[in-house]
Amino acid sequence: AETGYELWLRYTKISNTSLLQQYKQQLASPVVLGSSPTTSIIRAELSTALKGLMGTNYRLASSISSSNTLIIGKADATNILSSLATKDELKKLGEDGFIIKAKPGKTFITGNTDVAVLYGVFHYLRLLQTNQPITNLNIVSVPKLKLRMLNHWDNLDRSVERGYAGESIWDWHRLPGYIDQRYIDYARANASIGINAVALTNVNANATILTANYLEKVKALADAFRPYGIKVFLTARFSAPIELGKLKTADPLDNAVQQWWNEKVKEIYSFIPDFGGFVVKANSEGQPGPQDYKRTHADGANMMAKALASHKGIIIWRAFVYAAENPVDRHKQAYDDFVPLDGKFEPNVMVQVKNGAIDFMPREPFHPLFGAMPKTPLMMEFQVTQEYTGQATNWVFLAPLFKEVLDSDTYSKSKNSTVAKVIDGSLDNHSLNGMTGVANIGSDINWCGHPMAQANWYALGRLAWDYNLSSDTIADEWLRMTFSNDASFVQSTKQIMLNSREIMVDYMNPLGLHHIMGTGHHYGPAPWVSNLNRPEWNPVYYHKADSVGIGFNRTSTGSKAIEQYQPDARKQWENIATADEKYLLWFHHASWNYKMKSGRSLWNELCHQYNAGVDSVKWMQREWQKQATKVDAERFKAVSMLLNVQLEEAKWWRNACLLYFQTFSKQPIPSNYEQPDKT
Ligand code: GCU
Repeated sequence: AETGYELWLRYTKISNTSLLQQYKQQLASPVVLGSSPTTSIIRAELSTALKGLMGTNYRLASSISSSNTLIIGKADATNILSSLATKDELKKLGEDGFIIKAKPGKTFITGNTDVAVLYGVFHYLRLLQTNQPITNLNIVSVPKLKLRMLNHWDNLDRSVERGYAGESIWDWHRLPGYIDQRYIDYARANASIGINAVALTNVNANATILTANYLEKVKALADAFRPYGIKVFLTARFSAPIELGKLKTADPLDNAVQQWWNEKVKEIYSFIPDFGGFVVKANSEGQPGPQDYKRTHADGANMMAKALASHKGIIIWRAFVYAAENPVDRHKQAYDDFVPLDGKFEPNVMVQVKNGAIDFMPREPFHPLFGAMPKTPLMMEFQVTQEYTGQATNWVFLAPLFKEVLDSDTYSKSKNSTVAKVIDGSLDNHSLNGMTGVANIGSDINWCGHPMAQANWYALGRLAWDYNLSSDTIADEWLRMTFSNDASFVQSTKQIMLNSREIMVDYMNPLGLHHIMGTGHHYGPAPWVSNLNRPEWNPVYYHKADSVGIGFNRTSTGSKAIEQYQPDARKQWENIATADEKYLLWFHHASWNYKMKSGRSLWNELCHQYNAGVDSVKWMQREWQKQATKVDAERFKAVSMLLNVQLEEAKWWRNACLLYFQTFSKQPIPSNYEQPDKT
């Protein structure tokens, strides 16, 4: 049965027989040069893949000869490979880039390191999996970002904060002695899309992970991941010197505290010589941090960075901060805290910024910190797990959301200063750069809960490698590898994927509405909640519906959050008459009768969009039903059932939001729309 466990590495037999014949010729005699744990992995992957794709056993040649048709290895393994490119071209590949070149009768895959070769092999296999021509290949691929990362929000008791796919895959109890096959398959999947770093633990950190007993377990994971090119990071609880070291303080300017971190870091490197560093959430949502001692985020980050520097480790310091005692629009707080610190961070510090200023909403404008801290390398944090985007029941492909943010223009230098160019360091000349996704991975058989959610893990990796890839290309690749190369299947299912994010916005948070979900669990609608003791957690704080209208005025007559953006970036939102309506209620409090571009009143437009969202889920169902004969029964049924749930949830969002907002608008829901069931 198709359980989804194989992810996009299913390697089912190629059904196009003439293509199969062609491939067989070119793959007649492959050889993998070199001997290292990574080259063994390459051999094993190639054998498994070719056996599956070609439907016959493949014997790899054990040494190079004139009969080889596919030659794979590091550039310095043999002259044939090193002569494929000039010294300069090879240098430009860096550690991870690869070359795939096809000449008559022979194909070559090479790079400067074994891991680069592994990436090249996965790329080549993807071409076969997606039935691409392989006769005239001339590919040079270098990742746009150096750190391509997953952040697991996994706790030591195996619960996963915001996880919807079972418990944590890290089986701390049986580590270090027992290396679950899952770890290997996880590493393979990551390597296949270029992911090269993982933070194992929750940002709401438990200091216990830094004790020797746990470090031994972390070492076992790091050892398993290393041949796949994956580095391990941990989250560090700022107060660990108190909790573990029995110090009286965690003040970053206290010598004993610095000393404690120096020693701790030394200990970590004695277990894991290539340890990546720490991800730190400090002074955010109740976590300890430097501000507890009246120090700044830079003081805190730099103290830890100093401990890591001689080991080549880095600090990834999160900018997701807002304080209960701060009455300022939450949208503004990270910028207010961090912009004054620009230029004050040690060279081995990156500041990790969520894609938007509130919190992984279905749609947010890009975070105003992008482009506002030119002296600091900023790392992108996306959420792959669907905390606010339908959890494990909604089919939502997130690549369009990621792309929307990456392509946004910050105007920080001039036109075309996109968020992507901020994070790749090209705009401000930073050599540290990266992107992370909060993982959606758990111990469910299919890893990600919803069978279609695997595509979001895939998209994160592919975009971290090359943010210029289109959502269309990513969906296309993923569908072909994960399901089928059948043209009509790919065509229709891809349309569902590409539209799914906008559809979700329509039935959850249209027109710039945000943060109106259920308290705590964040599942389903609850725009009416107003009684939480932290005002910025109440949905009413964000939609501000009243008898006049709805929306959060963040312009110069309101919270002024818009002023954190460059004047040219503001233009798309600032003037209500010309504002992009996708963000209308994010930046404006508009009256219920405000006339929209469609000609409808704002109230009627809200009714329209919520209903369009529900109708579009019905469209998703119809399109999916057409695929019954194209997909295995198990996954077909799973997705069908989940679409039924998604439809119920879309109606739930629509009914709850419209009936609640109607108590302010005091207008009827136009009769051409389904009338919400008030129960
Ligand atoms: C969100 C999420 C929390 C998480 C936090 C963070 O608020 O709901 O569970 O801890 O983001 O990113 O730190």
